[in-house]
Amino acid sequence: MPRNILVTNALPYANGDIHLGHLVGYIQADIWVRFQRMRGNTVHYVCADDTHGTPVMLRAEKEGVAPEQLIARVHGEHLRDFTDFGVAFDNYHSTHSEENRWYAEDIYTKLQAARLIDTRSIEQYYDPVKEMFLPDRFIKGECPKCGAADQYGDNCEVCGAAYAPTELKNPYSAVSGAAPVLRNSDHYFFRLSDEKAVSFLREWTQGANADGVRRLPPEAANKMKEWLGEPGENKLSDWDISRDAPYFGFEIPGAPGKYFYVWLDAPIGYFASFRNLVGKRGDIDLAAFTEAGPAAAADTELVHFIGKDILYFHALFWPAMLEFAGYRTPTQLCVNGFLTVDGAKMSKSRGTFITARSYTERKLDPEWLRYYFAAKSNGTMEDVDLSLDDMIAKVNSDLVGKFVNIASRCAGFIGKRFDGKLGASDRDVTREYESAFAQATIAGAYEERDYSRALREIMRLADVANQFVNERKPWELAKQDGKDAELHAVCSTALTLFRDLALYLKPVLPALAANVEGFLAIAPLAWTNVWEPLPAGHTINPYKHLMTRIERKQIDALLEANKDSLAPTEVKAASKAAASQQRHGEQQAHVARKEAEQADAGAPTIAIDEFTRIDLRIARIVAAEHVEGADKLIRLSLDIGETENGQTKPRQVFAGIKSAYDPATLVGRLTVMVANLAPRKMKFGLSEGMVLAASDSSGEVPGIFILSPDSGATPGMRVK
Ligand code: 2FM
Ligand code: ZN
Repeated sequence: MPRNILVTNALPYANGDIHLGHLVGYIQADIWVRFQRMRGNTVHYVCADDTHGTPVMLRAEKEGVAPEQLIARVHGEHLRDFTDFGVAFDNYHSTHSEENRWYAEDIYTKLQAARLIDTRSIEQYYDPVKEMFLPDRFIKGECPKCGAADQYGDNCEVCGAAYAPTELKNPYSAVSGAAPVLRNSDHYFFRLSDEKAVSFLREWTQGANADGVRRLPPEAANKMKEWLGEPGENKLSDWDISRDAPYFGFEIPGAPGKYFYVWLDAPIGYFASFRNLVGKRGDIDLAAFTEAGPAAAADTELVHFIGKDILYFHALFWPAMLEFAGYRTPTQLCVNGFLTVDGAKMSKSRGTFITARSYTERKLDPEWLRYYFAAKSNGTMEDVDLSLDDMIAKVNSDLVGKFVNIASRCAGFIGKRFDGKLGASDRDVTREYESAFAQATIAGAYEERDYSRALREIMRLADVANQFVNERKPWELAKQDGKDAELHAVCSTALTLFRDLALYLKPVLPALAANVEGFLAIAPLAWTNVWEPLPAGHTINPYKHLMTRIERKQIDALLEANKDSLAPTEVKAASKAAASQQRHGEQQAHVARKEAEQADAGAPTIAIDEFTRIDLRIARIVAAEHVEGADKLIRLSLDIGETENGQTKPRQVFAGIKSAYDPATLVGRLTVMVANLAPRKMKFGLSEGMVLAASDSSGEVPGIFILSPDSGATPGMRVK
């Protein structure tokens, strides 16, 4: 019986570019989808942009566009990148859609009816200038432990300490610069700690689907056991699903000014994208895939491909939401690890934080990467390492040296000597390729998403084919009289083997396989038509080059293109999350890390007009003094050419530079200040700007270094 499968990939945020780290999970899913289809199964493959939340809202504001404009632009960019890498969704939708609003409201209303929604008042930092509550990531200040300046509200990047935003010294809003104030507000909670939710999750996370396949990979199921605790012990906290206006998202029904938290409606976006597809197609039974009941249990599957960083949301919140709102729950979670490049975390300063766009812009072949990622994917949650030299060696040796080489050595003779017509293939040679055993071995590996095993077996077969060609030497047969029949048989047999290899590789290399189909003039390769050799008398097309070798210099140029000399050496996400876990517990740490990543995603590139919004001025330090009661601050009076009643009117700025400067040595110096930073009320007075200074955030080079202009600059000059 053919299977009916709805496959999804995690929805990327609408405020960042697709990079190679994203592509691991998308390529793994796309390979699986293509494999299932080649086997005759029906697969609907959907995704969407994850559009809601504070970072998207602020990013749009920074760009001076409406959030709808930003998400429309990014939607186009994301879809283009996926298409370029052969990731072929049936539908690429948006969480900012009517279908998503409908499902979000429906699920919420049903959870309310099931008495699983609570409201309670919580106290949070509020930005009085921007008039908004601040997520932890948008509050900065001095670390309560080591005093490092400009640390985020949840943990310190310098000493690794974890703390609550309220513990930061001299906190300020990263949005407006204002000092935040604590305010109460009502929030809505999904009561995940309710006994019925906990006991459902205990069973669901450890269980298997109708085919006996575990819903979660074993490593993930174990993690869930830890997070859920022993029966009787309830470690789950309720989940805060609301955010206050202003927020870019869906307003909660019956709760004006309250919005669904982005992570509430993100996974619902899977259903929304599918529903949108059903609307366009008209021949799919929506309910059979989404409603709880016998059809969902027996006839259809819901398979989510996700990264291990979002396991928490997909293994706990999402199935519980679905279960208690009366929807079907996922059949399986396929979880991938992170990407490392040459054994290390992707890094902007090393150029290994590689965007999908930069890769295709440099005309690198996306199928090189698909092949390499597949060769490194074994169906577990292990991280995938993109070792650049290994990728070059593997692609050149396997694809060019072994696979393409078979056709390039044999096809020419068929064209030149036999008018493009094949002879009979030697079944004694092709039998191993077309054996049920070879097929089952490779299919089994694909099914389990152990692509590495599948490719090892395929390359073993490629070795057999090359050995056959090496032994029979068509180039020598071609020179000998009376060997035409043998030459014809050898080349035809080799091309049948080549066709079989193309079929086996097709889930991984769809574009290359399509070119092979064109060259061999055959119908699209499906898993069932591999049994018969290419028929004698069949005419093939002239051979055209199928794949080029990778050169190291292409990779070096790619790294160069992605190098961001301004980036901090590393994003210490892993250690940040670990520190955060000390305080929050795992559940909140996961939420915090995802927020952090989403917030960071908007930071690296800005348009010139964004830069010019910062009013930088040359300032003369006219006075500098210690501040009583402050360990780190110096009070500066800065002349930036402003006057009042004909008198110079200096600005007062508190700068955290006491550890590096004696105030007396600063007086008279010129420096650079940000003149249009929102004034910040501090315990010691109003700070009306900020002076620019350099410091090494890794702590390796101690000290703080304020900037100075070249001689000739005068107070008030604009710095651009
Ligand atoms: O972590 C992320 O990038 C999220 N945007 C993934 C969302 S997946 C699903 F829940 F929508
Ligand atoms: Zn610190």
